Amino acid sequence: MNIKKVLDQSITRALQLAGASDSSAVIKQSQKAEFGQYQANGVMGAAKKLKMNPRELAAQVIEALDLPLAEKVEIAGPGFINIHLDAQAVAAALSKLHTDSMLGIEAPPRQSYVIDYSAPNLAKEMHIGHLRSTTMGDAAARILDFLGHDVTRANHVGDWGAQFGSLLAYMDQLEQSGEILSTELKDLEVFYKKASALFKSDEEFAIRARAYVVRLQSGDDRCLELWQQFISESINHCQGVYDKLNITLTRQDIKAESSYNDDLAVVVSELKDKGLLEISDGAKCVFLEEFKGKDDKPLPAIVQKSDGGYPYLASDIAALRYRSQTLNADNALYFIDARQRLHMRQLFAVSKAAGYLTQSKVFKHLPFGVILKDDGTPFKTRDGADVKLIDVIDEAIERAFRLVTSKNPDLDETIRRNISEVVGVGAIKYAELSKNRTTDYIFDWDTMLSFEGNTAPYLQYAYTRIRSIFRRAEIDSTSLDSKIVLQHPVEFALAVKLLQFPEAIDSVTDDFQANVLCNYLFEVSGQFMSFYEACPILNQDDEIKNSRLMIADITSKILKQGLELLGIQTVEKM
Ligand code: ARG
Repeated sequence: MNIKKVLDQSITRALQLAGASDSSAVIKQSQKAEFGQYQANGVMGAAKKLKMNPRELAAQVIEALDLPLAEKVEIAGPGFINIHLDAQAVAAALSKLHTDSMLGIEAPPRQSYVIDYSAPNLAKEMHIGHLRSTTMGDAAARILDFLGHDVTRANHVGDWGAQFGSLLAYMDQLEQSGEILSTELKDLEVFYKKASALFKSDEEFAIRARAYVVRLQSGDDRCLELWQQFISESINHCQGVYDKLNITLTRQDIKAESSYNDDLAVVVSELKDKGLLEISDGAKCVFLEEFKGKDDKPLPAIVQKSDGGYPYLASDIAALRYRSQTLNADNALYFIDARQRLHMRQLFAVSKAAGYLTQSKVFKHLPFGVILKDDGTPFKTRDGADVKLIDVIDEAIERAFRLVTSKNPDLDETIRRNISEVVGVGAIKYAELSKNRTTDYIFDWDTMLSFEGNTAPYLQYAYTRIRSIFRRAEIDSTSLDSKIVLQHPVEFALAVKLLQFPEAIDSVTDDFQANVLCNYLFEVSGQFMSFYEACPILNQDDEIKNSRLMIADITSKILKQGLELLGIQTVEKM
Protein backbone atom coordinates (compact mmCIF):
# COMPACT_ATOMS: atom_id res chain seq x y z
CA MET A 1 0.00 0.00 0.00
CA ASN A 2 1.17 3.49 -0.83
CA ILE A 3 -0.29 5.59 2.01
CA LYS A 4 0.20 8.84 0.19
CA LYS A 5 -1.70 7.54 -2.80
CA VAL A 6 -4.54 6.20 -0.65
CA LEU A 7 -4.89 9.57 1.09
CA ASP A 8 -4.66 11.41 -2.17
CA GLN A 9 -7.43 9.37 -3.75
CA SER A 10 -9.73 9.54 -0.74
CA ILE A 11 -9.37 13.27 -0.19
CA THR A 12 -9.57 14.08 -3.88
CA ARG A 13 -12.81 12.10 -4.00
CA ALA A 14 -14.09 13.97 -0.93
CA LEU A 15 -13.16 17.27 -2.59
CA GLN A 16 -15.22 16.28 -5.58
CA LEU A 17 -18.18 15.34 -3.41
CA ALA A 18 -17.88 18.77 -1.80
CA GLY A 19 -18.21 20.38 -5.23
CA ALA A 20 -14.55 20.97 -6.15
CA SER A 21 -14.55 18.68 -9.16
CA ASP A 22 -11.26 19.49 -10.87
CA SER A 23 -9.12 19.94 -7.77
CA SER A 24 -6.80 17.50 -6.07
CA ALA A 25 -5.70 16.84 -2.51
CA VAL A 26 -1.95 17.59 -2.81
CA ILE A 27 -0.74 15.34 0.00
CA LYS A 28 2.52 16.15 1.74
CA GLN A 29 4.35 13.94 4.18
CA SER A 30 4.94 15.73 7.39
CA GLN A 31 7.84 14.95 9.69
CA LYS A 32 6.37 16.65 12.72
CA ALA A 33 4.11 14.34 14.68
CA GLU A 34 2.09 17.23 16.10
CA PHE A 35 0.87 18.09 12.60
CA GLY A 36 -0.31 14.57 12.03
CA GLN A 37 1.76 12.42 9.75
CA TYR A 38 0.33 13.75 6.51
CA GLN A 39 -1.19 16.98 5.35
CA ALA A 40 -3.47 17.83 2.44
CA ASN A 41 -2.59 21.19 0.92
CA GLY A 42 -5.01 21.35 -1.99
CA VAL A 43 -8.09 22.75 -0.24
CA MET A 44 -7.07 26.40 -0.39
CA GLY A 45 -6.61 26.32 -4.15
CA ALA A 46 -9.89 24.49 -4.59
CA ALA A 47 -11.71 27.02 -2.37
CA LYS A 48 -10.28 29.90 -4.37
CA LYS A 49 -11.68 28.43 -7.58
CA LEU A 50 -15.08 27.96 -5.94
CA LYS A 51 -14.89 31.41 -4.29
CA MET A 52 -15.45 29.75 -0.95
CA ASN A 53 -14.02 30.06 2.54
CA PRO A 54 -11.21 27.44 2.62
CA ARG A 55 -11.87 26.31 6.19
CA GLU A 56 -15.52 25.82 5.30
CA LEU A 57 -14.60 23.72 2.29
CA ALA A 58 -12.14 21.76 4.45
CA ALA A 59 -14.96 21.01 6.90
CA GLN A 60 -17.14 19.73 4.05
CA VAL A 61 -14.31 17.58 2.76
CA ILE A 62 -13.78 16.03 6.18
CA GLU A 63 -17.53 15.42 6.42
CA ALA A 64 -17.51 13.55 3.10
CA LEU A 65 -14.34 11.63 3.85
CA ASP A 66 -14.18 7.87 4.32
CA LEU A 67 -10.72 6.97 5.54
CA PRO A 68 -10.25 3.91 7.76
CA LEU A 69 -6.49 4.60 7.86
CA ALA A 70 -6.99 7.79 9.85
CA GLU A 71 -7.68 8.09 13.54
CA LYS A 72 -8.31 11.81 13.36
CA VAL A 73 -8.63 14.30 10.53
CA GLU A 74 -8.62 17.99 11.37
CA ILE A 75 -8.53 21.43 9.84
CA ALA A 76 -5.38 23.39 10.48
CA GLY A 77 -4.37 26.98 9.78
CA PRO A 78 -5.99 28.66 6.77
CA GLY A 79 -7.40 25.40 5.39
CA PHE A 80 -4.89 22.57 5.57
CA ILE A 81 -6.17 19.15 6.51
CA ASN A 82 -4.01 17.21 8.94
CA ILE A 83 -4.33 13.45 8.88
CA HIS A 84 -3.37 11.51 11.97
CA LEU A 85 -2.90 7.89 11.06
CA ASP A 86 -4.55 5.28 13.21
CA ALA A 87 -2.06 3.23 15.24
CA GLN A 88 -3.99 0.01 14.85
CA ALA A 89 -4.39 0.42 11.12
CA VAL A 90 -0.66 1.18 10.86
CA ALA A 91 0.23 -1.85 12.99
CA ALA A 92 -1.97 -4.11 10.90
CA ALA A 93 -0.51 -2.84 7.63
CA LEU A 94 3.01 -3.19 8.98
CA SER A 95 2.60 -6.75 10.18
CA LYS A 96 1.67 -7.76 6.63
CA LEU A 97 5.11 -6.70 5.43
CA HIS A 98 6.75 -9.43 7.42
CA THR A 99 5.83 -12.09 4.90
CA ASP A 100 5.48 -9.82 1.85
CA SER A 101 8.45 -10.16 -0.48
CA MET A 102 7.43 -6.87 -2.14
CA LEU A 103 7.45 -5.10 1.26
CA GLY A 104 4.19 -3.29 0.64
CA ILE A 105 4.74 -2.42 -3.00
CA GLU A 106 1.92 -3.24 -5.37
CA ALA A 107 3.14 -4.26 -8.79
CA PRO A 108 2.25 -1.55 -11.33
CA PRO A 109 0.86 -2.45 -14.78
CA ARG A 110 3.70 -4.19 -16.60
CA GLN A 111 5.53 -2.16 -19.21
CA SER A 112 8.63 -2.71 -21.26
CA TYR A 113 11.77 -0.71 -20.65
CA VAL A 114 15.09 -0.44 -22.42
CA ILE A 115 17.82 0.89 -20.19
CA ASP A 116 20.80 2.31 -22.01
CA TYR A 117 23.68 2.51 -19.56
CA SER A 118 27.39 2.07 -19.00
CA ALA A 119 28.21 2.05 -22.73
CA PRO A 120 31.97 2.64 -22.60
CA ASN A 121 34.02 3.12 -25.72
CA LEU A 122 35.94 -0.09 -26.15
CA ALA A 123 39.14 1.48 -27.40
CA LYS A 124 40.25 2.21 -23.85
CA GLU A 125 39.82 0.80 -20.39
CA MET A 126 36.83 1.94 -18.38
CA HIS A 127 37.61 5.06 -16.37
CA ILE A 128 36.02 6.72 -13.39
CA GLY A 129 33.67 8.71 -15.62
CA HIS A 130 31.85 5.46 -16.37
CA LEU A 131 30.95 4.95 -12.75
CA ARG A 132 27.93 7.25 -12.86
CA SER A 133 26.04 5.82 -15.82
CA THR A 134 26.94 2.28 -14.79
CA THR A 135 25.72 2.50 -11.18
CA MET A 136 22.68 4.64 -11.84
CA GLY A 137 21.52 2.62 -14.82
CA ASP A 138 22.01 -0.61 -12.92
CA ALA A 139 19.97 0.67 -9.96
CA ALA A 140 17.17 1.64 -12.35
CA ALA A 141 17.29 -1.80 -13.96
CA ARG A 142 17.12 -3.53 -10.58
CA ILE A 143 14.20 -1.38 -9.41
CA LEU A 144 12.20 -1.90 -12.60
CA ASP A 145 12.92 -5.63 -12.46
CA PHE A 146 11.71 -5.71 -8.88
CA LEU A 147 8.48 -3.96 -9.89
CA GLY A 148 7.91 -6.72 -12.43
CA HIS A 149 8.52 -4.77 -15.62
CA ASP A 150 10.01 -6.23 -18.74
CA VAL A 151 13.54 -4.85 -18.67
CA THR A 152 16.14 -4.93 -21.44
CA ARG A 153 19.59 -3.84 -20.42
CA ALA A 154 21.26 -2.23 -23.40
CA ASN A 155 25.00 -1.73 -23.25
CA HIS A 156 25.55 0.45 -26.32
CA VAL A 157 29.33 0.11 -26.34
CA GLY A 158 31.36 2.23 -28.74
CA ASP A 159 33.27 -0.20 -30.95
CA TRP A 160 33.11 1.39 -34.36
CA GLY A 161 34.62 4.85 -34.29
CA ALA A 162 37.63 6.36 -36.02
CA GLN A 163 40.01 5.45 -33.17
CA PHE A 164 39.78 1.81 -34.23
CA GLY A 165 41.75 2.68 -37.36
CA SER A 166 44.90 3.36 -35.30
CA LEU A 167 44.32 0.32 -33.14
CA LEU A 168 43.96 -1.99 -36.11
CA ALA A 169 46.94 -0.52 -37.93
CA TYR A 170 49.02 -1.01 -34.81
CA MET A 171 47.77 -4.55 -34.19
CA ASP A 172 48.55 -5.49 -37.74
CA GLN A 173 52.04 -4.03 -37.48
CA LEU A 174 52.73 -6.01 -34.29
CA GLU A 175 51.44 -9.23 -35.74
CA GLN A 176 53.57 -8.80 -38.86
CA SER A 177 56.63 -8.40 -36.66
CA GLY A 178 55.79 -11.62 -34.82
CA GLU A 179 54.60 -10.18 -31.49
CA ILE A 180 52.08 -12.12 -29.47
CA LEU A 181 49.08 -9.88 -29.51
CA SER A 182 47.17 -11.27 -26.58
CA THR A 183 49.93 -10.32 -24.15
CA GLU A 184 50.23 -6.86 -25.70
CA LEU A 185 46.53 -6.35 -25.18
CA LYS A 186 46.72 -7.09 -21.46
CA ASP A 187 46.93 -3.39 -20.74
CA LEU A 188 44.46 -1.79 -23.15
CA GLU A 189 45.28 1.66 -21.93
CA VAL A 190 48.97 1.39 -22.76
CA PHE A 191 48.11 -0.24 -26.05
CA TYR A 192 45.79 2.60 -26.98
CA LYS A 193 48.39 5.19 -26.00
CA LYS A 194 51.04 3.58 -28.18
CA ALA A 195 48.68 3.42 -31.15
CA SER A 196 47.57 7.05 -30.80
CA ALA A 197 51.16 8.22 -30.38
CA LEU A 198 52.09 6.52 -33.64
CA PHE A 199 49.09 8.12 -35.31
CA LYS A 200 50.38 11.53 -34.33
CA SER A 201 54.07 11.03 -35.03
CA ASP A 202 54.13 8.80 -38.10
CA GLU A 203 52.41 10.16 -41.19
CA GLU A 204 52.58 6.85 -43.02
CA PHE A 205 50.98 5.09 -40.07
CA ALA A 206 48.21 7.70 -39.96
CA ILE A 207 47.39 7.12 -43.61
CA ARG A 208 47.19 3.39 -42.98
CA ALA A 209 45.03 3.98 -39.90
CA ARG A 210 42.48 6.02 -41.84
CA ALA A 211 42.33 3.37 -44.53
CA TYR A 212 41.66 0.77 -41.84
CA VAL A 213 38.50 2.53 -40.67
CA VAL A 214 37.04 2.42 -44.15
CA ARG A 215 38.10 -1.22 -44.61
CA LEU A 216 36.62 -2.18 -41.27
CA GLN A 217 33.29 -0.47 -41.85
CA SER A 218 32.97 -2.02 -45.27
CA GLY A 219 33.44 -5.51 -43.87
CA ASP A 220 37.03 -6.48 -44.83
CA ASP A 221 37.73 -9.95 -43.39
CA ARG A 222 41.27 -9.37 -42.17
CA CYS A 223 40.20 -6.16 -40.40
CA LEU A 224 37.21 -7.78 -38.81
CA GLU A 225 39.38 -10.59 -37.51
CA LEU A 226 41.88 -8.23 -35.86
CA TRP A 227 39.08 -6.01 -34.61
CA GLN A 228 37.30 -9.00 -33.08
CA GLN A 229 40.39 -9.87 -31.03
CA PHE A 230 40.63 -6.38 -29.72
CA ILE A 231 36.93 -6.14 -28.93
CA SER A 232 36.80 -9.42 -27.11
CA GLU A 233 39.81 -8.48 -24.95
CA SER A 234 38.13 -5.18 -24.21
CA ILE A 235 34.81 -6.80 -23.33
CA ASN A 236 36.62 -9.19 -20.97
CA HIS A 237 38.02 -6.16 -19.24
CA CYS A 238 34.57 -4.52 -18.91
CA GLN A 239 33.01 -7.71 -17.65
CA GLY A 240 35.71 -7.94 -15.00
CA VAL A 241 34.83 -4.43 -13.85
CA TYR A 242 31.10 -5.20 -13.81
CA ASP A 243 31.58 -8.36 -11.79
CA LYS A 244 33.77 -6.62 -9.25
CA LEU A 245 31.31 -3.75 -8.98
CA ASN A 246 28.32 -6.08 -8.63
CA ILE A 247 26.71 -4.72 -11.78
CA THR A 248 24.08 -6.94 -13.39
CA LEU A 249 25.32 -6.42 -16.96
CA THR A 250 26.51 -9.51 -18.81
CA ARG A 251 27.97 -10.13 -22.24
CA GLN A 252 24.44 -10.80 -23.53
CA ASP A 253 23.45 -7.23 -22.74
CA ILE A 254 25.97 -5.78 -25.16
CA LYS A 255 24.37 -4.37 -28.24
CA ALA A 256 27.28 -2.51 -29.74
CA GLU A 257 27.26 0.42 -32.13
CA SER A 258 28.65 -1.89 -34.80
CA SER A 259 25.59 -4.12 -34.60
CA TYR A 260 23.58 -1.38 -36.28
CA ASN A 261 25.97 -1.10 -39.22
CA ASP A 262 23.61 -2.67 -41.72
CA ASP A 263 20.72 -0.49 -40.58
CA LEU A 264 22.51 2.81 -41.11
CA ALA A 265 21.93 3.03 -44.85
CA VAL A 266 18.32 1.95 -44.35
CA VAL A 267 17.76 4.71 -41.81
CA VAL A 268 19.22 7.30 -44.16
CA SER A 269 17.02 6.14 -47.00
CA GLU A 270 13.94 6.15 -44.78
CA LEU A 271 14.74 9.70 -43.71
CA LYS A 272 15.05 10.57 -47.38
CA ASP A 273 11.68 8.97 -48.21
CA LYS A 274 10.07 11.03 -45.47
CA GLY A 275 11.46 14.15 -47.14
CA LEU A 276 13.64 14.98 -44.16
CA LEU A 277 17.08 14.94 -45.79
CA GLU A 278 19.01 17.88 -47.10
CA ILE A 279 22.57 18.00 -48.35
CA SER A 280 24.75 20.60 -46.67
CA ASP A 281 28.47 20.83 -47.46
CA GLY A 282 28.25 17.34 -48.90
CA ALA A 283 26.82 15.84 -45.70
CA LYS A 284 23.33 14.39 -45.38
CA CYS A 285 21.50 16.36 -42.72
CA VAL A 286 18.12 16.80 -41.10
CA PHE A 287 17.16 20.39 -40.32
CA LEU A 288 14.49 20.83 -37.72
CA GLU A 289 12.69 23.96 -36.56
CA GLU A 290 13.56 23.45 -32.89
CA PHE A 291 17.32 23.55 -33.46
CA LYS A 292 18.47 27.01 -34.27
CA GLY A 293 21.88 28.54 -33.80
CA LYS A 294 22.63 32.02 -32.45
CA ASP A 295 21.88 33.77 -35.72
CA ASP A 296 18.52 31.99 -35.92
CA LYS A 297 19.82 29.72 -38.67
CA PRO A 298 18.74 26.10 -38.29
CA LEU A 299 21.45 23.73 -37.02
CA PRO A 300 22.04 20.53 -39.00
CA ALA A 301 21.73 17.08 -37.46
CA ILE A 302 24.26 15.17 -39.57
CA VAL A 303 23.31 11.58 -40.36
CA GLN A 304 25.92 10.82 -42.99
CA LYS A 305 29.20 12.61 -43.44
CA SER A 306 30.48 13.81 -46.79
CA ASP A 307 33.03 10.94 -46.93
CA GLY A 308 30.18 8.43 -46.59
CA GLY A 309 30.93 7.59 -42.94
CA TYR A 310 28.19 7.58 -40.34
CA PRO A 311 28.46 9.63 -37.15
CA TYR A 312 27.50 8.70 -33.59
CA LEU A 313 24.03 10.22 -34.12
CA ALA A 314 23.27 7.82 -36.97
CA SER A 315 23.94 4.71 -34.90
CA ASP A 316 21.83 6.15 -32.11
CA ILE A 317 18.92 6.73 -34.49
CA ALA A 318 19.27 3.15 -35.71
CA ALA A 319 19.38 1.92 -32.10
CA LEU A 320 16.29 3.90 -31.19
CA ARG A 321 14.46 2.56 -34.24
CA TYR A 322 15.40 -0.98 -33.18
CA ARG A 323 14.32 -0.44 -29.58
CA SER A 324 11.04 1.12 -30.59
CA GLN A 325 10.09 -1.07 -33.54
CA THR A 326 11.81 -4.41 -32.98
CA LEU A 327 11.92 -4.61 -29.19
CA ASN A 328 8.62 -2.77 -28.99
CA ALA A 329 9.70 -0.89 -25.90
CA ASP A 330 7.18 1.42 -24.23
CA ASN A 331 9.95 3.24 -22.41
CA ALA A 332 13.65 3.84 -22.82
CA LEU A 333 15.96 5.42 -20.29
CA TYR A 334 19.29 6.77 -21.46
CA PHE A 335 21.77 7.30 -18.65
CA ILE A 336 24.22 9.55 -20.42
CA ASP A 337 26.44 12.46 -19.39
CA ALA A 338 24.74 15.89 -19.42
CA ARG A 339 27.27 17.06 -22.00
CA GLN A 340 25.46 14.93 -24.57
CA ARG A 341 22.21 16.85 -24.07
CA LEU A 342 22.12 18.38 -27.54
CA HIS A 343 22.91 15.02 -29.11
CA MET A 344 20.00 13.44 -27.22
CA ARG A 345 17.58 16.23 -28.12
CA GLN A 346 18.52 15.84 -31.75
CA LEU A 347 18.14 12.08 -31.52
CA PHE A 348 14.61 12.33 -30.12
CA ALA A 349 13.56 15.11 -32.47
CA VAL A 350 14.79 13.37 -35.63
CA SER A 351 13.29 10.06 -34.47
CA LYS A 352 9.92 11.72 -33.87
CA ALA A 353 9.97 13.38 -37.26
CA ALA A 354 10.85 10.03 -38.84
CA GLY A 355 8.00 8.29 -37.02
CA TYR A 356 10.30 5.93 -35.09
CA LEU A 357 9.31 7.51 -31.82
CA THR A 358 5.54 7.58 -31.57
CA GLN A 359 3.42 9.58 -29.14
CA SER A 360 2.68 6.76 -26.71
CA LYS A 361 6.32 5.97 -26.03
CA VAL A 362 8.37 7.60 -23.32
CA PHE A 363 12.04 7.78 -24.25
CA LYS A 364 14.02 9.89 -21.82
CA HIS A 365 17.52 11.17 -21.42
CA LEU A 366 18.56 11.05 -17.76
CA PRO A 367 21.57 13.33 -17.71
CA PHE A 368 24.14 13.47 -14.96
CA GLY A 369 26.98 15.71 -13.89
CA VAL A 370 30.68 14.88 -13.77
CA ILE A 371 32.89 13.65 -10.94
CA LEU A 372 35.30 16.20 -9.54
CA LYS A 373 38.30 16.15 -7.23
CA ASP A 374 37.99 17.92 -3.88
CA ASP A 375 39.58 21.03 -5.40
CA GLY A 376 36.75 21.21 -7.91
CA THR A 377 38.83 20.17 -10.92
CA PRO A 378 37.94 17.17 -13.11
CA PHE A 379 38.97 13.81 -11.69
CA LYS A 380 42.18 12.97 -13.61
CA THR A 381 45.59 11.60 -12.76
CA ARG A 382 48.43 14.08 -12.21
CA ASP A 383 49.50 13.83 -15.85
CA GLY A 384 45.95 14.54 -16.98
CA ALA A 385 45.02 10.97 -17.89
CA ASP A 386 41.72 9.32 -17.02
CA VAL A 387 41.70 7.42 -13.73
CA LYS A 388 41.06 3.75 -14.44
CA LEU A 389 37.86 2.48 -12.90
CA ILE A 390 39.42 -0.81 -11.86
CA ASP A 391 42.05 1.11 -9.85
CA VAL A 392 39.34 3.08 -8.07
CA ILE A 393 37.51 -0.12 -7.15
CA ASP A 394 40.68 -1.76 -5.87
CA GLU A 395 41.57 1.27 -3.82
CA ALA A 396 38.05 1.38 -2.32
CA ILE A 397 38.36 -2.25 -1.26
CA GLU A 398 41.81 -1.67 0.19
CA ARG A 399 40.66 1.39 2.15
CA ALA A 400 37.62 -0.52 3.38
CA PHE A 401 39.92 -3.29 4.54
CA ARG A 402 41.86 -0.86 6.73
CA LEU A 403 38.59 0.52 8.08
CA VAL A 404 37.10 -2.88 8.85
CA THR A 405 40.36 -3.99 10.44
CA SER A 406 40.49 -0.96 12.71
CA LYS A 407 36.91 -1.63 13.82
CA ASN A 408 37.25 -5.35 14.21
CA PRO A 409 40.92 -6.43 14.33
CA ASP A 410 40.20 -9.88 15.74
CA LEU A 411 38.01 -11.04 12.89
CA ASP A 412 39.50 -13.68 10.64
CA GLU A 413 41.35 -12.11 7.69
CA THR A 414 39.33 -13.91 5.00
CA ILE A 415 36.14 -12.63 6.56
CA ARG A 416 37.57 -9.12 6.77
CA ARG A 417 38.53 -9.30 3.08
CA ASN A 418 35.05 -10.39 2.23
CA ILE A 419 33.44 -7.59 4.19
CA SER A 420 35.83 -5.06 2.63
CA GLU A 421 34.65 -5.93 -0.85
CA VAL A 422 31.05 -5.36 0.12
CA VAL A 423 31.84 -2.16 2.04
CA GLY A 424 34.34 -0.70 -0.43
CA VAL A 425 32.23 -1.29 -3.51
CA GLY A 426 29.10 -0.23 -1.63
CA ALA A 427 30.78 3.02 -0.61
CA ILE A 428 31.69 4.19 -4.11
CA LYS A 429 28.32 3.21 -5.54
CA TYR A 430 26.37 4.81 -2.74
CA ALA A 431 28.39 8.02 -3.05
CA GLU A 432 27.21 8.20 -6.68
CA LEU A 433 23.61 7.34 -5.99
CA SER A 434 23.04 9.48 -2.93
CA LYS A 435 23.83 12.72 -4.76
CA ASN A 436 21.43 14.63 -6.92
CA ARG A 437 21.86 13.01 -10.32
CA THR A 438 22.09 16.14 -12.44
CA THR A 439 24.78 18.06 -10.57
CA ASP A 440 28.54 17.53 -10.56
CA TYR A 441 29.87 15.94 -7.41
CA ILE A 442 33.10 15.71 -5.50
CA PHE A 443 34.66 12.29 -5.06
CA ASP A 444 35.86 12.11 -1.49
CA TRP A 445 37.22 8.92 0.04
CA ASP A 446 36.86 10.00 3.64
CA THR A 447 33.16 10.88 3.51
CA MET A 448 32.09 7.89 1.47
CA LEU A 449 33.92 5.46 3.73
CA SER A 450 32.68 6.90 6.98
CA PHE A 451 30.49 4.99 9.39
CA GLU A 452 28.69 8.22 10.14
CA GLY A 453 26.34 10.14 7.90
CA ASN A 454 24.46 9.17 4.79
CA THR A 455 26.90 6.51 3.55
CA ALA A 456 26.83 2.86 2.56
CA PRO A 457 28.97 1.73 5.54
CA TYR A 458 26.54 3.44 7.92
CA LEU A 459 23.55 1.63 6.40
CA GLN A 460 25.36 -1.68 6.11
CA TYR A 461 26.36 -1.36 9.73
CA ALA A 462 22.82 -0.50 10.81
CA TYR A 463 21.70 -3.67 9.08
CA THR A 464 24.25 -5.84 10.91
CA ARG A 465 23.25 -4.31 14.23
CA ILE A 466 19.67 -5.43 13.74
CA ARG A 467 20.74 -8.90 12.68
CA SER A 468 22.91 -9.17 15.75
CA ILE A 469 19.89 -8.64 18.00
CA PHE A 470 18.45 -11.84 16.61
CA ARG A 471 21.78 -13.66 16.77
CA ARG A 472 22.47 -12.71 20.35
CA ALA A 473 18.98 -13.64 21.52
CA GLU A 474 19.04 -16.78 19.35
CA ILE A 475 15.71 -15.95 17.82
CA ASP A 476 14.68 -17.08 14.38
CA SER A 477 12.79 -14.17 12.89
CA THR A 478 10.59 -16.39 10.75
CA SER A 479 9.06 -17.82 13.91
CA LEU A 480 7.67 -14.49 15.15
CA ASP A 481 3.98 -14.00 15.68
CA SER A 482 2.47 -11.50 13.25
CA LYS A 483 0.90 -9.21 15.84
CA ILE A 484 2.36 -5.71 16.16
CA VAL A 485 1.38 -3.29 18.92
CA LEU A 486 2.48 0.32 18.68
CA GLN A 487 2.83 1.97 22.07
CA HIS A 488 5.61 4.50 22.01
CA PRO A 489 5.54 7.57 19.69
CA VAL A 490 9.02 6.70 18.35
CA GLU A 491 7.80 3.23 17.60
CA PHE A 492 4.80 4.63 15.78
CA ALA A 493 6.98 7.01 13.77
CA LEU A 494 9.26 4.17 12.68
CA ALA A 495 6.26 2.05 11.71
CA VAL A 496 4.92 4.81 9.49
CA LYS A 497 8.37 5.28 7.96
CA LEU A 498 8.58 1.59 7.14
CA LEU A 499 5.21 1.76 5.43
CA GLN A 500 6.59 4.53 3.23
CA PHE A 501 8.89 2.21 1.28
CA PRO A 502 6.42 2.16 -1.67
CA GLU A 503 6.35 5.96 -1.66
CA ALA A 504 10.14 6.09 -1.88
CA ILE A 505 10.20 3.61 -4.77
CA ASP A 506 7.40 5.49 -6.55
CA SER A 507 9.29 8.75 -6.39
CA VAL A 508 12.44 7.10 -7.70
CA THR A 509 10.63 5.80 -10.75
CA ASP A 510 9.26 9.30 -11.43
CA ASP A 511 12.58 10.55 -12.71
CA PHE A 512 15.21 8.08 -11.56
CA GLN A 513 16.82 10.12 -8.84
CA ALA A 514 18.14 7.26 -6.75
CA ASN A 515 19.02 9.70 -3.97
CA VAL A 516 15.36 9.64 -2.92
CA LEU A 517 15.75 5.97 -2.03
CA CYS A 518 19.12 6.64 -0.36
CA ASN A 519 17.61 9.37 1.81
CA TYR A 520 14.72 7.14 2.68
CA LEU A 521 16.99 4.31 3.83
CA PHE A 522 19.10 6.77 5.78
CA GLU A 523 15.99 8.02 7.58
CA VAL A 524 14.86 4.47 8.26
CA SER A 525 18.19 3.71 9.95
CA GLY A 526 18.11 6.93 11.91
CA GLN A 527 14.59 6.28 13.15
CA PHE A 528 15.48 2.71 13.97
CA MET A 529 18.35 3.95 16.16
CA SER A 530 15.94 6.26 18.02
CA PHE A 531 13.48 3.43 18.42
CA TYR A 532 16.19 1.09 19.68
CA GLU A 533 17.22 3.65 22.28
CA ALA A 534 13.70 4.45 23.44
CA CYS A 535 12.11 1.04 23.24
CA PRO A 536 13.90 -1.85 24.91
CA ILE A 537 13.24 -5.13 23.16
CA LEU A 538 14.38 -8.26 24.87
CA ASN A 539 13.42 -7.57 28.48
CA GLN A 540 9.74 -6.94 27.69
CA ASP A 541 6.71 -9.15 28.13
CA ASP A 542 6.10 -11.58 25.30
CA GLU A 543 3.63 -9.51 23.33
CA ILE A 544 5.76 -6.36 23.25
CA LYS A 545 8.98 -8.29 22.75
CA ASN A 546 7.47 -10.10 19.79
CA SER A 547 6.10 -6.88 18.36
CA ARG A 548 9.39 -5.01 18.65
CA LEU A 549 11.30 -7.90 17.15
CA MET A 550 8.86 -7.82 14.24
CA ILE A 551 9.53 -4.12 13.76
CA ALA A 552 13.28 -4.75 13.90
CA ASP A 553 13.04 -7.59 11.43
CA ILE A 554 10.95 -5.59 8.95
CA THR A 555 13.42 -2.71 9.27
CA SER A 556 16.29 -5.01 8.38
CA LYS A 557 14.36 -6.42 5.43
CA ILE A 558 13.68 -2.97 4.05
CA LEU A 559 17.31 -1.94 4.50
CA LYS A 560 18.56 -5.06 2.78
CA GLN A 561 16.07 -4.86 -0.07
CA GLY A 562 16.54 -1.13 -0.50
CA LEU A 563 20.31 -1.48 -0.69
CA GLU A 564 20.00 -4.41 -3.05
CA LEU A 565 17.88 -2.26 -5.39
CA LEU A 566 20.77 0.19 -5.38
CA GLY A 567 23.15 -2.65 -6.23
CA ILE A 568 24.70 -2.66 -2.76
CA GLN A 569 25.23 -5.84 -0.77
CA THR A 570 24.95 -6.40 2.94
CA VAL A 571 26.79 -8.75 5.31
CA GLU A 572 25.50 -10.27 8.51
CA LYS A 573 28.47 -9.20 10.63
CA MET A 574 31.06 -6.48 10.34
N1 ARG B 1 29.93 5.36 -25.89
C1 ARG B 1 29.39 6.65 -25.59
C2 ARG B 1 30.43 7.49 -24.88
O1 ARG B 1 31.33 6.95 -24.28
C3 ARG B 1 28.16 6.59 -24.71
C4 ARG B 1 27.00 5.91 -25.33
C5 ARG B 1 25.73 6.19 -24.62
N2 ARG B 1 24.58 5.61 -25.25
C6 ARG B 1 24.06 6.00 -26.37
N3 ARG B 1 22.99 5.36 -26.83
N4 ARG B 1 24.50 7.05 -27.03
O2 ARG B 1 30.33 8.71 -24.93
